[in-house]
Order: sequence, then C-alpha cells, then structure tokens
Amino acid sequence: MNKNELLKIAREARELSYSPYSHFAVGAALECTDGSIYQGANIENASYPLAMCAERNAVYNAMMDGKTKDDFVALAIVADTERPCSPCGACRQVLSELYPEDAPIYLGNLEGDVKETTIAELLPFAFDGEDL
Ligand code: THU
Repeated sequence: MNKNELLKIAREARELSYSPYSHFAVGAALECTDGSIYQGANIENASYPLAMCAERNAVYNAMMDGKTKDDFVALAIVADTERPCSPCGACRQVLSELYPEDAPIYLGNLEGDVKETTIAELLPFAFDGEDL
C-alpha cells in the first residue's frame, strides 16, 4: 500500500476519535505484512491523563489480534495540524519497543503535507529493556 492510501485510512480512523476535552482528533493506521490494517484514534477521559493516543491504540489493536513487531510494515498518523503531526514522547517510547526501528512512519495533516520518518530518527538513544 502506498503512503497516501495509508494516510487516508488514518484520516478515516481520526473520525472515531473521542476527544471532547482537547478537541484535538488524531487518527492512525498500521499496515502489516499480511496486508491487514489496524486503525487507532485518540480516546480521552474526564480524568485527563488517562487519554490514550491514536498511534498507541493502533499498535495495541494489532497486538490484540495476534500481530507482533515483526508483522509491522508502515504506520501513518494524521491530525489537523499546521505541520505533519508529530508523535508525543510517550508514543515514541512505546514505538521504540513495539515498532521496527527502520520501518516507515508517515506523519500527515489535513492539508496533505507528509513527512516520512522512522522511530530510530524520532527517538535516538532510547531507553529499552536492555537497560534494566
Ligand atoms: N495525541 C495523540 O493521539 N497522538 C499524539 O502523538 C499526540 C497527542 C492526542 C492525545 C490527546 O487526546 C490529544 O491528542 C491532545 O494531546
């Protein structure tokens, strides 16, 4: 699947965002080696810190269907931002453990701007299980 198709699916996932507190809707789409796509959107709560980000929900959604890091091919993230939406620090930490370090991550916005990156680039020198 090309990046624009995956970004479109992330944009569709964004419609499912539950974000009544921030009013900042984010969508994500995770492509796997078998061609399956897992969507995620941010889900908030009146207890604000309990919000779960779109990209983490996409990864967890895939894992709950039996997928693992080795199955992940590409990830797209979209929000209504001026520049392509960049993942938060918590998501970078989670992706550094659960997403392949050199697999593409497409960051997008509603204007169609796209930045292609990797988790290795987004979180260099990450803390990981080897440090424990
Ligand atoms: N959010 C995401 O879903 N992904 C990110 O990487 C950035 C932040 C969500 C969390 C919260 O629901 C809202 O955006 C505002 O921070």
